Amino acid sequence: MDLKQASLQLLLNNRRNAKNFQHTVPSPDTYPYQWLWDSCFHAIILTHFNTSDAKKEILTLVSKQFDNGLIPHMIYWDKESPTDFPIIEWGKEDTSTITQPPMVAYAVWEIYQKDKDQSFIKKVYPNLYHFYRYLLTERDPHENHLIGIMNPDESGEDNSPRFDIPLGLPPKHSFKENTQKRLNLVVQNIECKFDAPFCMRNFFWVKDVPFNSIMVANLRLLAMLAEKLDNDDANYFTKEADAISLAMRRLMLDDDIFYSTYGEAYEKIKVKTWAIFTPLFAKILSQEEAGKLVSNHLLNKNEFWTNFPIPTTSLDEPAFDPQGFWRGPTWIAINWFIYKGLLNYGFNDIAKKIKKSSLELLQKSGFREYFNPFTGEGWGAHNFTWGCLIVDIN
Ligand code: GLC
Repeated sequence: MDLKQASLQLLLNNRRNAKNFQHTVPSPDTYPYQWLWDSCFHAIILTHFNTSDAKKEILTLVSKQFDNGLIPHMIYWDKESPTDFPIIEWGKEDTSTITQPPMVAYAVWEIYQKDKDQSFIKKVYPNLYHFYRYLLTERDPHENHLIGIMNPDESGEDNSPRFDIPLGLPPKHSFKENTQKRLNLVVQNIECKFDAPFCMRNFFWVKDVPFNSIMVANLRLLAMLAEKLDNDDANYFTKEADAISLAMRRLMLDDDIFYSTYGEAYEKIKVKTWAIFTPLFAKILSQEEAGKLVSNHLLNKNEFWTNFPIPTTSLDEPAFDPQGFWRGPTWIAINWFIYKGLLNYGFNDIAKKIKKSSLELLQKSGFREYFNPFTGEGWGAHNFTWGCLIVDIN
C-alpha cells in the first residue's frame, strides 16, 4: 500500500463541510465531530499536500473559540451524525466546554514553514494569543507555572492510568467505571459553569506532564510566530516557556522521570506512561538526561520496548493492559511525539526504528485507532486519521 496516497485519500474521505466551514472527522463511524488536537494533526498532515486545506482546518477550529480564549476540545458540527459516541450536553452550545492539548501553534508554524504566508499567521495570531493567554492565566491560578487540566479528557488520553489516583480508581477497573467517573466530573463542571480555577480547586487538580510539555514546545513556536509579525509578545511567551520548564523540574521530576501531579500539594502520580518521554518533545532535558531516559526506559524490554513500540503504559505497571484504551496499546500520534522528541536529541537510529514499526503497524492492520504492542493487531475506531501522521514521520 502506498501510505502517502492512502493517507491523503483517508483525509479526503473524512472531510466534512458544515456551515461553510471545512474540517476533518477523526473516524466517520466512531468520531464524527471535530476535535482540537486531531485537527492540529490533520493540519500537520495536510501541509504535505496542500496548505490551503490545512489552513481551513485550523480556521474552522478557532471559529468556535470562547470569549475567554478557550478553544473547545470538541465541536459538534453535525449532531445528527450516527455514532456510538454519546452526545454530551456541555455548558456551551454545540461544543464541549473543556479543551485539549494545545498543539495549535505547532500546526500553524508547520503551515508557515511550508508556504511562508504572512497573511495567514496574521489572521490566526489573535486566536493563538488568546488561547495561550487563557491557559497561562486561568489554568494556573496559584502562579506556579504549571498548566492544569480540569478533566482527564483534556489530556487527550481520556482514561490513562495517570488519572486513576485523582479519580479514586484502582489500577484495574472497567471501561464503564472510568467513563462514569469522568462524566461525574462533567456534571460538576457544568454546575460550576466551567470556571476553571474553581472547578480545578474543587474537583480535579491535575498538572499533566504531556500537556505541559506540549505547552512549552508550542509557546516557543508562538514566540517565533510573534517575531515574524514583528510584535512584542515573543519575549513574554519565551519567558513563560522557560518558567514552565523550570516548574516541571521543580515539581514533577523524581530521579530521572517527570511525573504528573495531583492536588494542591503537587503529589506525584508515580505511574509510568509514555508521558515520561514528552520532555524530549519539549527539549527540556539535557543531552545526558535524555540519554539516560532513553536507555533506562524507552529501550527497556520490561517497560516500553515491545515488538511494536511504544506502548502507552509501561509493561511493569499494574494498570498495563495491551488492549485497554490508553492503558497499554500503541497509538501512531504518540509515536509521532516520541519520534520528534528523539530527533531533537539526535537519537536518529532509535527514531528510525519507531518509524519502521509504525509503518509495519499500518501495513499490517490499517488505519485503526490503536494497536496491540505485542502482536500489532488493530483495535478501536476504523478509518482513523492519526495513522496519516506517518507522512510527517520523515
Ligand atoms: C478519543 C481520544 C482523544 C481524541 C478523540 C477523537 O476520545 O482519547 O484523544 O481526540 O478520541 O479522536
